[in-house]
This record gives sequence, C-alpha cells and structure tokens, in this order.
Amino acid sequence: MSEDKKYHEYDGIVEHDNPLPTWWLWTFFLTIIFAFIYFIHYEIAGGPTLQDELKISLGEIEKMKGSSVKSSPTESEDSLAGEFNKPGFAESGAAAYVAKCAACHGQDMQGLIGPNLVDKFWIHGKGTRLDIVKVIRDGVADKGMPPWGPVLKNEEIYALAAYIISKKGTNPPGAKPAQGEPVENYLEGK
Ligand code: HEC
Repeated sequence: MSEDKKYHEYDGIVEHDNPLPTWWLWTFFLTIIFAFIYFIHYEIAGGPTLQDELKISLGEIEKMKGSSVKSSPTESEDSLAGEFNKPGFAESGAAAYVAKCAACHGQDMQGLIGPNLVDKFWIHGKGTRLDIVKVIRDGVADKGMPPWGPVLKNEEIYALAAYIISKKGTNPPGAKPAQGEPVENYLEGK
C-alpha cells in the first residue's frame, strides 16, 4: 500500500481516505438540524432562557408551598366558614377521615389514641375552624398527632376540618373521657 501514491505515508503510518460511516454522518447532520431548530426557537422565536425557566420553576415551588404547607395569607375564620358551608363540602372529608384519622380518633370521632373530636373539650385552641385547621396542618409532634400539612393540600385539610365540625356534639358511643378545656359555643369563634 505504501507504493500507492494516493495515500500519504510517514514513518510507516499510512493515511487512508475511507468514507465516513453512514451512522456517523447522519448523527452529524442531525446535530446540524437540531442546532438550527434550537437557534430559531431560543434566539429568534423568544423561547425561555435558563433564567426564565428557573424563575418559572421557583414560582411553581412557591405555589405548591402555598397550597400545602404554608397557611394561605387570606385564611380567616370568615373565609373558612364560607368554604366549609359550601354544600357537600363537609362530606367530602369523610373518606380521608376514615383513611387517615379514624385509626387514632375512632370511626365516630369518639377518641382512641387521639382525643374525642366531637365533644366540647379542646386541648389545642378553642375548636374554631382556624384552630382545627392549624392542628391538622402542624400536628402535635411530641404528643403523637402527625402534621398533615406536608401530605395534604389545603383543600383536603379544610374538608377534614369541616367534616369534624359537621359531627360536633354527635355524642358517639364509647366516647373517650374529656381532654383539654371545655369551650362553649366553640364555633362562634369566641
Ligand atoms: C397516630 C395517631 C393520630 C392520627 C393518625 C391522627 N391524629 Fe389527630 N391527634 C392525635 C393525638 C395523640 C392528639 C392529641 C395531641 C395532644 O395531646 O396534644 C390529636 C389531636 C388532634 C386534634 C386536636 C384535638 C384537641 O382537642 O385539640 C385534631 C383536630 C386532630 N387530632 C385531627 C386529626 C385529623 C383530622 C387526622 C387525620 C388527618 C388526625 N387527627 C390523625 C393522634 C392522631
């Protein structure tokens, strides 16, 4: 082969002129096509920059925090009352109550490991809508009440609180003895 002057040779190393493999060429062409589309999309058509994308993602995280862990700033006894009184809203918490709360508070909220939720005695707060939402959301870590804020959406927590309130005073059989302070008229927010 070294006699063939078509090829360069140096120190016995011969340079050939083989065609590039088809798969390689196609990969190469595809990168060119990709680069073309990419350029059009991001430089001309105004696609989002990395900074924009970061901003959008951070915004989404903030939104998620707002709807699950943090209490929304507009939450008040009145806003909750409006929410809770929507037709069918309280019942919408029933399934979640059975699945997540009944094991500790009893099927009828009569109390088991956790306190009775339908008597007028409250350990945390005075049994207002805000109080109940808060204790469900934040839990009572050292007393065995799990925080549900990281697990449930605000809507779900509201539905649970509304369901508990809808059962107030039902006096279920086998009720656990009172725990906490008695509160008269606890839903009047006093
Ligand atoms: C692992 C057991 C457990 C589970 C599950 C549980 N709780 Fe509790 N809960 C408790 C205990 C224990 C307390 C009492 C905390 C204390 O003594 O401070 C409590 C307290 C409460 C209180 C405050 C009662 C008061 O008198 O102030 C509310 C409201 C409540 N739980 C609602 C719920 C809801 C709603 C769920 C379901 C999403 C739930 N709990 C799931 C154990 C539990």
